[in-house]
Amino acid sequence: ADFQLDGYDNFMHKEMHEQPEAIRRALLGRLDERFSTARLGGINLDARALRAVRSVKFLGCGSAYYAGQIGANLVEELARLPADAEPASEFRYRNPVIDGDTLYVAVSQSGETADTLAAVRELQRKGGQVMGVVNVVGSAIARECGHGVLLHSGPEVSVASTKAVTSMSFSFALLALLLGRVRDLSVANGTRIVNGLAALPDLISDILKTEDEIAEVADRFHDARGMFFIGRVRCWPAAREGAQKLKEISYVHAEAYQASELKHGPLALIDETMPSVVLVPDDELLAKNIGTIEQIKARGGPVIAVTNAELPSGLADAEIRVPHATPELDPILLTIPLQLFAYHLALRLGRDIDKPRNLAKSVTVE
Ligand code: G6P
Repeated sequence: ADFQLDGYDNFMHKEMHEQPEAIRRALLGRLDERFSTARLGGINLDARALRAVRSVKFLGCGSAYYAGQIGANLVEELARLPADAEPASEFRYRNPVIDGDTLYVAVSQSGETADTLAAVRELQRKGGQVMGVVNVVGSAIARECGHGVLLHSGPEVSVASTKAVTSMSFSFALLALLLGRVRDLSVANGTRIVNGLAALPDLISDILKTEDEIAEVADRFHDARGMFFIGRVRCWPAAREGAQKLKEISYVHAEAYQASELKHGPLALIDETMPSVVLVPDDELLAKNIGTIEQIKARGGPVIAVTNAELPSGLADAEIRVPHATPELDPILLTIPLQLFAYHLALRLGRDIDKPRNLAKSVTVE
């Protein structure tokens, strides 16, 4: 059934709807309720080795890189370790300084992306410590790394990645939890994250049930000249992934921007033909994000708010509502409606959803 449409119009639609199941599989046996931590049996690092990690760097291409950015934020928040993400395609060409105390994480759905594989090999040549987060068992990156986390998303056919990307972010939350619990993350906070992760599959199902409403919003804005995707801190990588999805399958230009950076340039582009999709999680930065929406509105820009907060009525031109999650996990949840938004906008424009022009599912040559 994996390579059949099972009544769906295309694979992207099917794979978006498979996400709750895919995540349940990715979580199976990996939540340790008793000790409020994660169990990642595929990682060759005991508690002492995990404690010796001084920083974490995620390497991947395309959506795997954006997922890595979500991962880096989670590691910083939960484990209080410096963490970042970089496109593997850049890393491999810039003679990077390899740090022996850094845990490098190679991220790839296919496990075959040439740039990511080259980054792994360069790391190994220089004695770096690298684990893989990969969907395809036995793939080149999985074999080369020799240890890591398998995503268990099931085969992904659509060029635009959905369920694999969601499982990547999940796996990073598990890794961040594990790194946190060998350091200073308390039992209470560990429990909060364990419960938050366990709750996400159902919350994602709830979002998928609102697909018709999201389709209506996409319909209203389908003739936009271009779009901004605005996020702040936690939700900035989610905004980047949302913009990427729109570009890939609808061919509408989209640019992701950090909310506070708008005023340093891009505000000049705002007018009534340039809608902004603004991610507004119900967290400690809510007032700041409301301020961002007001700035865009004051320049005549239409705003689509993707939010689980109560916004002042009439503030946004359209609202896409999502349920509440544990705040650290909001970026995972807020990515889901952006997939549906891109999908319905592309459908409205009559695009070939599963096979966008000029793109390949996995880029195995330079
Ligand atoms: C291609 C695909 C993207 C994907 C990227 C990385 O460019 O079109 O959707 O994110 O490769 O693929 P990987 O298999 O390494 O995750």
